[in-house]
Amino acid sequence: MTNHNNTIRFYKSNDIPVELHKVRVVQKLFLKPVEERKAAMETAGFNTFLLSTKDVFLDMLTDSGTNAMSDLQVSSMLHADDAYAGSQSFCRMESALRDVFGKHYVLPAHQGRAAENIVSRAFIKEGDVIPMNYHFTTTKEHMELNGGKVLEIFADDALEIKSDKPFKGNIDINKLKAVFKKYGKERVAFVRMEASTNLIGGQPFSMQNMRDVREICDQNGVMMVLDASLIGENAWFIKQREKEFENTEIKDILREMCNYADLVYFSSRKVSSSRGGGILTNREDLYLKMRDLVVLYEGFLTYGGMSVREIEAMAVGITDTCDETVISQSPSFIAYAVNQLDEAGIPVITPPGALGCHIDAKSFLSHIPQQDYPAGALASALYIISGIRGMERGTISSVRDEKGNDLLADMELVRLAFPRRVFTLSQTMFVIDRVKWLYDNRELIGGLEWVEEPAVLRFFMGKLKAKTNWPEKLLAKFRQDFGDSL
Ligand code: F0G
Repeated sequence: MTNHNNTIRFYKSNDIPVELHKVRVVQKLFLKPVEERKAAMETAGFNTFLLSTKDVFLDMLTDSGTNAMSDLQVSSMLHADDAYAGSQSFCRMESALRDVFGKHYVLPAHQGRAAENIVSRAFIKEGDVIPMNYHFTTTKEHMELNGGKVLEIFADDALEIKSDKPFKGNIDINKLKAVFKKYGKERVAFVRMEASTNLIGGQPFSMQNMRDVREICDQNGVMMVLDASLIGENAWFIKQREKEFENTEIKDILREMCNYADLVYFSSRKVSSSRGGGILTNREDLYLKMRDLVVLYEGFLTYGGMSVREIEAMAVGITDTCDETVISQSPSFIAYAVNQLDEAGIPVITPPGALGCHIDAKSFLSHIPQQDYPAGALASALYIISGIRGMERGTISSVRDEKGNDLLADMELVRLAFPRRVFTLSQTMFVIDRVKWLYDNRELIGGLEWVEEPAVLRFFMGKLKAKTNWPEKLLAKFRQDFGDSL
């Protein structure tokens, strides 16, 4: 039995995810009164990115750079070797990454999007297309800046909210073949697969899908690029959901996934619970195309814009990622929340994926037209009534077309991230409770409109306001139901 996950069977009860770690360093949290939360949301322009953490109770904005570090990670940071060139910290990181990913050449970058910049500059030319399971915001921007066009070729039913399909992150093989037919292999820069596909709800792809994609890449002499930012969780789902791998160690699954890719890049803010990024390959020709860009944009080849302390933490963190009790923690807490909300009839993406619990704001707030940003409204309302900070992943995170019209997003989601080993089960129960209350009071919530709208990546810094006085009504109902409780 090699299944070492943290879900434990309780006496006369269901399976419960139990924390297989103990808390040794803690950070105090504050749950401010609802009136103060409403004021903070107004000051933040109904944009959860603009909230200050002093006003946030549970920060579920992202898992990026917010996973808990292990004691071994923190202690490794103390023996970091500060040097511009040839640092021993880099050697330790390089050797850990080689061991886990099975690739010889290691290029450091200050974070995931920096790796995307290097890969896009090196391999995309004007007029190219890049087929992929789904885009990520920064990935798409970098590819387009270099003249490329993103083609999303997921299965027709991959965006269905309620589903029991285990691998919604798969690339549709027939659509991939059609891309090569339509554009010809010369115009396909590479095929990109994103592990635990972020923007469609942290949904994994299967190993079989990787094999099939690899075969088509080989037939066309085109390389396969793997975004490995959430590869640990994807490997975990392969173990859980793909029969062939039920007894395979996570490390071996990770290695096989990477073997199919010519180039692997990642944000270590996610994959190794540290801060930084990197690119790996076994092909010297690819390495040489990227090497000088790293020196130009990131820093010397033995630090790449990262502090040596983070480099040490990355070396240990990537090894921790291969530990099943570490890698299963976030998915099992997400599954707990998703299953409870789903049972209560609340629209959440199923099956549960990686990164977070994704609420479908389009049907949660079906009375709010997409033009009035239901996902943004839901994220704001949830913060006001709970102090929980989630992230809008809907039309606010999208862009306008050349005529200035909003390009309505495929999905209107509120993502509640579960960074690894950060929240406890009682905090998770609080999240479930407040989402349930909000669902019962959803008619009170109204739409949003822009006050300040930046031209690029507007979701980060943009400010909005409520179209009506719905926040007041929500606050009044909260007080009526919860009295003087927080
Ligand atoms: N690729 C994926 C799949 C990501 O999820 C992210 C970041 C990046 C690349 C970029 O990495 O932030 O280190 O520059 N995702 C974060 C999130 C921002 O909140 O999901 P980065």
